[in-house]
Amino acid sequence: MALTVALLAAGCTGSGAGGGVRGTPGAAGLRDPLFPRLGNGGYDVSRYALTLSYDPATGRLDGRAEITAKATKDLSAFNLDLTGLTVRGATVDGAPAAVNRAGSELTLRPREDIDDGDEFRATVTYEGVPETVTDADGSEEGWLKTADGALAVGQPAGSMAWFPGNHHPFDKAAYDITVTVPAGLKAVSNGVLASERKTADGRTTSVWRAAEPMASYLATLAIGRYDTTTTTALGTVPVLTAVDPVVARQTAALRARLPELLEWQTENFGPYPFTATGAIVERDEDLGYALETQTRPVFSAASFDTATLVHELAHQWYGNSVSPATWKDIWLNESFATYAEWLYAEDFEDTPAQENFEKAFANDAAWAFPPAEPPSAEELFATPVYQRGAMVLHRIRQEVGDDTFYEILAGWPAKHRHGTASTEDFTRYVESVAGRDLGGLWDVWLYGEGKPAEATD
Ligand code: ARG
Ligand code: ZN
Repeated sequence: MALTVALLAAGCTGSGAGGGVRGTPGAAGLRDPLFPRLGNGGYDVSRYALTLSYDPATGRLDGRAEITAKATKDLSAFNLDLTGLTVRGATVDGAPAAVNRAGSELTLRPREDIDDGDEFRATVTYEGVPETVTDADGSEEGWLKTADGALAVGQPAGSMAWFPGNHHPFDKAAYDITVTVPAGLKAVSNGVLASERKTADGRTTSVWRAAEPMASYLATLAIGRYDTTTTTALGTVPVLTAVDPVVARQTAALRARLPELLEWQTENFGPYPFTATGAIVERDEDLGYALETQTRPVFSAASFDTATLVHELAHQWYGNSVSPATWKDIWLNESFATYAEWLYAEDFEDTPAQENFEKAFANDAAWAFPPAEPPSAEELFATPVYQRGAMVLHRIRQEVGDDTFYEILAGWPAKHRHGTASTEDFTRYVESVAGRDLGGLWDVWLYGEGKPAEATD
């Protein structure tokens, strides 16, 4: 569900000789400034239906991905991103398609061209032991083997380790994820659990539905032994939390606070954008960080503290509902999620946001680069993106006052609900609400090299 076309790589647009317009291949990447090969051009996915089965004993995943998409040009072939695994076959609109693989690019060539504007359905069947991906900053994502199963996390690029797709946040889609696991294990994913049943051979099949548009990096799948708890938040939103029994007791009190935290966030950030919520809490050895996977963020027990829960829930508005147009815009996610922590401290812990701002200002690591210009993939989650990003928001608050600032907090996710937005969209929006030019603030705080002389510059 790409909303603008500015980012789409043009690919080859020449038409065939002899007058008849012929399709050409879709681009192999969306020219993201930090990850040029991520995503693919020439089509727009509306829905993924994944049918998976996993056996932790062998580590083997069997998968079938059914991808419903619309062509945005005449296509002779198009790419999906997929890393590792073995592709057994592919179809487009029911007919076998030729398959080619080169690195993380999977190319499908249908028998007949797909016309610009036509909806089509591609299926890919695949199998193998999914890979753990090591990011430029050394963190692990993709498919992680856990003590009793596996965990899929995908920021920024790991989701291509477990299903083929258009793996750039620019192309958001609905997901239906059907997973079969051995008896005694559970499979937990995004959205709502539509059904759960036993197969003839005693395994369990769960069907998860994530109806609202989701960037692929926010898809998750947790397979293992879990204690699950269900309740309701905000009057109508089903809450489902899954916790590894080994860390259940130590995390129980905070897990129970999820509905009230969401309530507080809704008062400040506007209506909750999704129809489900919850959390997945794993052992510390299973994962080294927390991630805001859509509707159901994942945590290690060590990262499951109040500030981090506030942070990952805030991402549901900032990052998940309004997603970054490119990975350079990641500060739009992390600044708001960090500022949510500062607001929590202000509202519940007697620590004004001003104090956290001053602490961040005094932190040398926050000044390594301007938040709107992460220099490389290695720096995507570095301190300036979080701390200097949050300082930008605090400087806006100082300039426009609390009333206008809170209007911006709720107005920004309302304006781009379930879409994508860029840094320029944000600065333009803030100036429109403030009713004045804030170029000086952007120059110093968002784009400026180094630390300003004064915290009020
Ligand atoms: N977005 C996560 C957060 O809430 C951090 C993800 C870290 N991932 C990584 N590859 N370093 O802050
Ligand atoms: Zn974050």
